[in-house]
Amino acid sequence: MTGLAFTQLARQVREHIGQEHRYAHSVRVARCAEELARRHGADTRKARIAGLLHDLARLYSPERLIAECEARGIEIEAAAREHPTLLHARLGAALARELFGIEDAEVLSAIEKHTTAAGEMSRLDCIVYLADSLEPERRFPERAELWRRAMLDLHGAMRETVALSRRRYARKIALAEARASAS
Ligand SMILES: [Fe+2]
Ligand SMILES: [Fe+2]
Repeated sequence: MTGLAFTQLARQVREHIGQEHRYAHSVRVARCAEELARRHGADTRKARIAGLLHDLARLYSPERLIAECEARGIEIEAAAREHPTLLHARLGAALARELFGIEDAEVLSAIEKHTTAAGEMSRLDCIVYLADSLEPERRFPERAELWRRAMLDLHGAMRETVALSRRRYARKIALAEARASAS
């Protein structure tokens, strides 16, 4: 993809997302993914495109996420029924194909796995996951150190970032439960 084609794609993504904050995040993820890909000998073009397109459905309402997944026959497991935001990655991959003509299986897989980091993760999957988790506007104390690690050791950084996000998620659930039982 030429620079011009990428600029055009970026313009369409901006329009689709319709919110400056989320679009700016997508551009940062594209840049970080490209940087990681360059560092680790992966395809920089695919990394950049997957980064730019990863959050196409992130701002959809829970009802819309469920409805659009159902319309496409995308599997909705119990956890996703309860937390439909989880579906934005899977639906995002479908939208990347339908609306942006992306047919590359590696790019679609990276978009699809950018939230849950489930199962086998390819190098490009890891790159987009880490770019999304560690882009410079993410605000958590370990971010900078994990980013340095990601530039040196993709899989080590992946293990640590996934473990950290699981710990943070568990804390969030525990807090919510404590609040619910106190009220
Ligand atoms: Fe996302
Ligand atoms: Fe994101």
